[in-house]
Amino acid sequence: MAVIADNCPEIEVIVVDNNEERIAEWNGPNLDKLPIYEPGLNEVVARRRNKNLFFSTKVDEAISKADMIFISVNTPTKKSGLGAGYASDLKWVEASARKIAKFSKGHTIVVEKSTVPVKTAELIGNILGSYNSDSKDNLNKKSFSILSSPEFLAEGTAIKDLENPDRVLIGGDDAESIEQLSLIYQRWIKKDKILLTNIWSSELSKLTANAFLAQRISSINSISALCEMTGAEVDEVALAIGSDKRIGEKFLDASPGFGGSCFQKDILNLVYLCRHFGLFTVADYWEQVIFLNDWNRKRISTLIINKLFGSLSLKRILILGYSFKSNTNDIRESSAKYIVKDLLENNAKLFIHDPQVSKKQIEESLNQEESKELSDIDEGNWVFCENLADCFNLVDAIVILTEWDEYKNLDWEKISNSMRKPSWLFDTRLIADKVEVRDSGINYWGIGQGLN
Ligand code: UGA
Repeated sequence: MAVIADNCPEIEVIVVDNNEERIAEWNGPNLDKLPIYEPGLNEVVARRRNKNLFFSTKVDEAISKADMIFISVNTPTKKSGLGAGYASDLKWVEASARKIAKFSKGHTIVVEKSTVPVKTAELIGNILGSYNSDSKDNLNKKSFSILSSPEFLAEGTAIKDLENPDRVLIGGDDAESIEQLSLIYQRWIKKDKILLTNIWSSELSKLTANAFLAQRISSINSISALCEMTGAEVDEVALAIGSDKRIGEKFLDASPGFGGSCFQKDILNLVYLCRHFGLFTVADYWEQVIFLNDWNRKRISTLIINKLFGSLSLKRILILGYSFKSNTNDIRESSAKYIVKDLLENNAKLFIHDPQVSKKQIEESLNQEESKELSDIDEGNWVFCENLADCFNLVDAIVILTEWDEYKNLDWEKISNSMRKPSWLFDTRLIADKVEVRDSGINYWGIGQGLN
């Protein structure tokens, strides 16, 4: 919404949320303390806030003023009830539709921006339809058209992705509404990048895009395990296959596994849909992408334990990176969380560093407070490491889990001197120079590196 406001100064954009604390943060004086860390976002907000971009808790009032409403609420995987563990919970989408039905005035274009299962537009349509006013008073007459326009931005590069997207997708059947939404994007995006489809194709494309992307990561991670057995190197294999234009070079970085709020949720959703329609083999096919991801995380924690003589008791391990990827403070479904939990269960003493993730976030995700004693940290406990330079002292092993820039050019010679011997580096992102690491006297394991 901030990027729309930035490109369309004559459009008034109001972002509403029930959560007062969140909205207060978006309105806060310190632009470095916005609720989301996203490179470039604070500058856009600084340019547009209180000019044509507003953050408010006055949901009903904003709805009644709006010509177009983007439903952008979360749709997490259901934890209980029908479809638990797979289906998306659409309660917030439904609640939004009910509010829109109640408070909107005149004609309103409702855009599904949240990632939703196919046929959600039908649910929204049913709710809105049941409120379609038959009032004689023309002023109060309500009508709606529903569009699907899923979002394809990735965290960490969101502003760049929005400024210059590969495509914008608009699904719907009302030509006039499609044109209105398309015209907004045409302010900064070429028309041939704006794809128009029917509403169900648009909804399904979002789930399919994420499933294909996640599938690539599981594919390359599966090959990384084979590389380690055979002497091949996964980055070389990725380069060799990625040079084939049909395969493409992007999204072939081996890793501890994909995280984030989207991939797993969307594949589970796809699996649920397939089973719902009786397509069991298709469902099983996609579910393997998640199984492989879970297996890969476990494989890494087990390997760390084995390399450290089969026991982490009394071992001090430094974790570099907790967010699910670099340039974000988002830790939802981060592989780091799963690997850290495994290490703690095996009695390791962990030091955790991340440039953007806070101690509180880690505490909440592990459901475990940090150890009080830095010097004599308990087994199976952890402390938050504020300053990277102070983190290396007397640790037995370092595990790189997120590819933050600050971990790319570390002085391994110096680090080696402050570690306890025999010392180890486990690089799950292949960002350290393995020759430098080995030359410094640290044992090296890199994902997908044969002859480890
Ligand atoms: C993903 C998609 O890339 C976006 O197109 C989509 O809009 C978004 O989900 C969404 O549905 O909201 P995001 O989860 O923000 O975006 O980040 P990605 O860059 O896709 O990374 C996801 C995970 O895959 C991260 O844990 C990342 O480290 C991992 N990854 C990515 C790899 O392990 N290897 C790669 O080569 C690329």
